[in-house]
Amino acid sequence: MATKKRPPPRRKVVVADQPKGSLEDAAAAAQSHAYAPYSKFKVGAAVKMSGNVFTGVNVENASYPLAVCAERNAIAAAVLAGARDLEEVAVITDASPPAAPCGGCRQVLSEFAAYPARVTVVAFNPKGERRTWTLAELLPDSFSGKELP
Ligand code: THU
Repeated sequence: MATKKRPPPRRKVVVADQPKGSLEDAAAAAQSHAYAPYSKFKVGAAVKMSGNVFTGVNVENASYPLAVCAERNAIAAAVLAGARDLEEVAVITDASPPAAPCGGCRQVLSEFAAYPARVTVVAFNPKGERRTWTLAELLPDSFSGKELP
């Protein structure tokens, strides 16, 4: 007898990583934990997803290509907690002018943005310099699951 397919369980957002203060404060607090002994380029990222804040830092490796960017680690923390809807992004580096997220991270951020034109991405540095875009500006005509058969 065919078994009846159960609906998938409802995801609950578990707030495991929610620093107080603004998204920028959260990214700045994370930055000091970056593991970047090879590039010395420390990155802190904070994403607001499903109403909660999650942070990430870049984690490098002696096998250089295995480095994982801060933005991607922040997304992983959010997904682990059950958050899925990307609302806002803040990224801090020591670069001047502030460094924009890499192409790979733009694609990973886009995966969770139902409306990329409504997602603000701010890049800033400890000097207080800021650059702001929408995710749609950073990655126009992005590839998405809608393209897949
Ligand atoms: N990096 C990030 O964490 N995010 C980006 O968007 C660009 C690059 C990291 C990866 C590597 O650890 C270091 O910065 C230098 O590329």
